[in-house]
This record gives sequence, C-alpha cells and structure tokens, in this order.
Amino acid sequence: MLQQQTIETIKATVPVLAEHGTAITKTFYKNLFDAHPQLLNIFNQTNQRKGRQQGALANTVYAAAVHIENLEAILPAVLKIAHKHRSLGILPEHYPIVGEFLLAAIKEVLGDAATPAILEAWGQAYGVIADIFISVEEDLYVQAEANDGWRFFKEFVITNKQVQSDVATTFTLQRADGGEVPQATAGQYISLRTAIPGEEFLFNRQYTVTKSTANAYEITVKREDAADAHGTMSNYLHNAPIGTTVDVSVPAGDFVLTNEDAPILFISGGIGVTPLYAMLQTIENRSVSFLQYARNAQVAAFTQQISAHVDTLNGTYEIVYSDESGHIEASQIAPLLTAHTHVYVCGPTPFMEATLQHLRSLHVDPSHIHFEFFGPAIAFA
Ligand SMILES: Cc1cc2nc3c(=O)[nH]c(=O)nc-3n(C[C@H](O)[C@H](O)[C@H](O)COP(=O)(O)OP(=O)(O)OC[C@H]3O[C@@H](n4cnc5c(N)ncnc54)[C@H](O)[C@@H]3O)c2cc1C
Ligand code: HEM
Repeated sequence: MLQQQTIETIKATVPVLAEHGTAITKTFYKNLFDAHPQLLNIFNQTNQRKGRQQGALANTVYAAAVHIENLEAILPAVLKIAHKHRSLGILPEHYPIVGEFLLAAIKEVLGDAATPAILEAWGQAYGVIADIFISVEEDLYVQAEANDGWRFFKEFVITNKQVQSDVATTFTLQRADGGEVPQATAGQYISLRTAIPGEEFLFNRQYTVTKSTANAYEITVKREDAADAHGTMSNYLHNAPIGTTVDVSVPAGDFVLTNEDAPILFISGGIGVTPLYAMLQTIENRSVSFLQYARNAQVAAFTQQISAHVDTLNGTYEIVYSDESGHIEASQIAPLLTAHTHVYVCGPTPFMEATLQHLRSLHVDPSHIHFEFFGPAIAFA
C-alpha cells in the first residue's frame, strides 16, 4: 500500500500532470521507441502519428492519479485496456520499461519542478497501477488459453473473401494447422498481426469477428481510401490473395450484449456496423430497433441481413444515407427509445460524438449506453 505522504504528493501533482500530460507522454513515446525500437512491432503507428495513443495514456494516468486512494473505481477502464493489451501480447516485463521511460519523461518535461520526492511518489504509484494491469491481464491470458485457445498469436490462412459493398469485404480466416478456434462473444474483436512488404515493422490491427464457427473467424474490413498513402493494413488485406497467412490472437473485448431482457437500440455509422451486426445475429427473442447510417447504398454493408433478422423479431430497421439526409439527428433516435432501452453505438469518432450527445440530450440513462471506438478509447467530456 502507498503511504499517506506519497498519496498526498501524487494528489498535489495531478493538476501539473493534467497540464503537461500530453507533452509528457509524447516525450515518453519518443524516448521509448528510440531506446527500444522493437516495440514498434506492437504499437499502431497511425495512432501515434495522430496523437491518439498519447491522449489515451495521458488520460489513464490522470484518471489513476485522481483515484489513487480507490483504484477500484478505474477497474472497468483497466479491463477494457487489458483486453487490448492481451490481444496484442503485452507482457509483465514490458511494464518496468514503460515505467522507467514515463518517469524519465516526467523529469524531462517538468525539469526542476519534478523533485526527488515527486518522482519517488510517481514511481511507487506507477508500480501499484502496473501490478493491477499485470494481474488482470494474466487472468485474461489464462481465459484465452481455455477452449482450444492460445496465449499469444497463431498462424491463420485467408481461405475465402466475400464482397459486401464497394468498400467492405468479409474474410474467412482458418488456423494454418487446421485446429478449432474458441468462439467469439458477439461484439468481440481479434488482433491481426502481419509483416507488410516495404514496412519496417509488423502491423497490428483489430477487427470485429462478424461470425465465428468451429474452425474459422470471419472479419469484415473496410478498405480505407486506396488513394491515400495510408490505410496500410486494410488495403493489404483487400489486395491479399486467398492463401495469404496472418497471425491472429484469441477474441478479446468487453463490448458485448448485457444479459438482460431490456429492449435494444443499435445505432451504427459506416463500418461500425460490424459489432452490432454480430450482436443482432445472436438475438432470438428481444425487442430490437436498428438505425444504420452509411454514406450511400454502394458502401452500406449487411443491409439485407440486418433487415431480414430484424423482421423475424418484429423490430424496426431504418437505413439512413448521409449523402442524401445529412448527419444523425436526435429526432431520428427519439421514437425508437423507451425508458428501459439499452443503446449500442459504434461508428467513426465524429458520428459517435454526435450520437452520444443526442442520447444525453434525450436523457438516456448513462448505464444504458454502450459504445466501442475503432481506435484508442477517447474520453468524452
Ligand atoms: C476494437 C476495434 C474493432 C475494429 N473493427 C473493425 C472492423 O470490424 N472492420 C474494419 O474495417 N475496421 C475495424 N477496426 C479498425 C481497424 O483496426 C483499422 O484501424 C482500420 O482497418 C484502418 O487500418 P489501416 O492500417 O488500413 O489504416 P491506417 O494506416 O491505420 O490509417 C487509418 C486512417 O488514418 C489515416 N491516416 C493514416 N496516417 C495518417 C496521418 N499521418 N495523418 C492523417 N491521417 C492518417 C488513413 O488515411 C486512414 O484513413 C477496428 C478497430 C478496433 C480498435
Ligand atoms: C500502467 C501502464 C499502462 C497504461 C496506463 C496503459 C494505457 C493504455 C491505454 C489507455 C490504451 C488505449 C486502449 C484502447 O485502445 O482503448 C493502451 C493501448 C496500448 N498499450 Fe498500454 N498502457 C500501459 C502499459 C503498456 C505497456 C507496458 C505496453 C507495452 C510496451 C503497452 C502497449 C500498448 C499498446 C501496443 C496499445 C495499443 C495502442 C495502439 O497501438 O494503438 N501499454 N494502453
């Protein structure tokens, strides 16, 4: 346990961290990758370039500091991150490296303001937080190994490709050794890891499992703009011939249906339809509405399957094409809500921000709102 004096030092320095949080983590990542370039085989460089991962780490350290006397409060956030860490193969031995470079960055950015007492306090606090992550992640590794699973990555083969729209294709992935695979709970994702010709480091990306069978996972991937210099993994997959191999870790993630009878409203934007489509397929007897947004009919995925399944449930399905009708409005959501409805949201960040704001303005109970980011989780003010 941390001593009272240490806790007070941590609390007193939280405002300084909040002010310099992003500068500290930027310095941290630069120095970390200079000293340990092999870690670039794990981190998503696009998230780094866009500063998204920096923000995620800064927010988490800040949240942990605020709750340093009651770290139970951040356990749900830890679990979500731990799922991502486990799916990427983060190990206990990585934590002291991160701790060393985080402390060094605090010292570099704060200069003389970072007294030995402050650094000592943060070193101890980091140790406490890291131990929680390591222990939660070990539990997830043990779970991953159950039911024909495995701890890290296994080689898979792309055995089929099925076009869903002008931009989305479903890929069937089977174990190269022909073995069975643990089933994904609808809404979960797998991490794919692969060497891409011309790229110095391995690429890791997450994709929702749109279907899992005894010996295969299906994922549905949107091709990011091929004219863009980036969109590296999605273009690689779209261009990959059948027989291409990729490494895959066991399904992860806590964006799954709650075990209740409450009515459900699914709201998807673009390729964010994948986890909600997977969840819908598992529902046999529950009141369901599905509000799907896509730019136009050419790029919309799974419309027929969603419409057919919602029909079997006597539910409501609406597809809105934003090229014609513009952005999501609260008035489109309101008629589909009851006091008990649980809402599941997934889509691009601006779409999510707008939707979550509408749900708040419509007074939906925050505990009834469930959402997933297709990138590092961003804290909403
Ligand atoms: C939990 C989870 C589930 C997911 N499920 C799915 C899914 O089911 N289907 C799916 O298609 N995707 C899904 N994703 C997203 C997926 O993981 C990838 O992020 C996506 O495929 C893009 O990867 P990429 O390598 O093709 O693009 P990247 O190269 O990572 O680029 C991503 C975007 O950023 C832009 N970009 C890149 N570099 C820069 C820069 N320097 N400045 C500005 N813009 C830049 C690119 O043009 C592109 O639009 C999921 C993500 C998560 C976290
Ligand atoms: C207590 C220490 C740590 C904290 C607070 C932390 C926090 C976070 C957060 C908030 C995310 C974003 C999660 C999301 O995607 O929603 C994340 C992702 C990630 N973390 Fe950590 N992390 C810690 C330790 C580590 C360590 C030791 C490593 C390994 C070197 C690591 C590697 C990663 C990677 C590779 C990602 C995925 C991000 C990406 O590439 O986009 N983390 N972490």
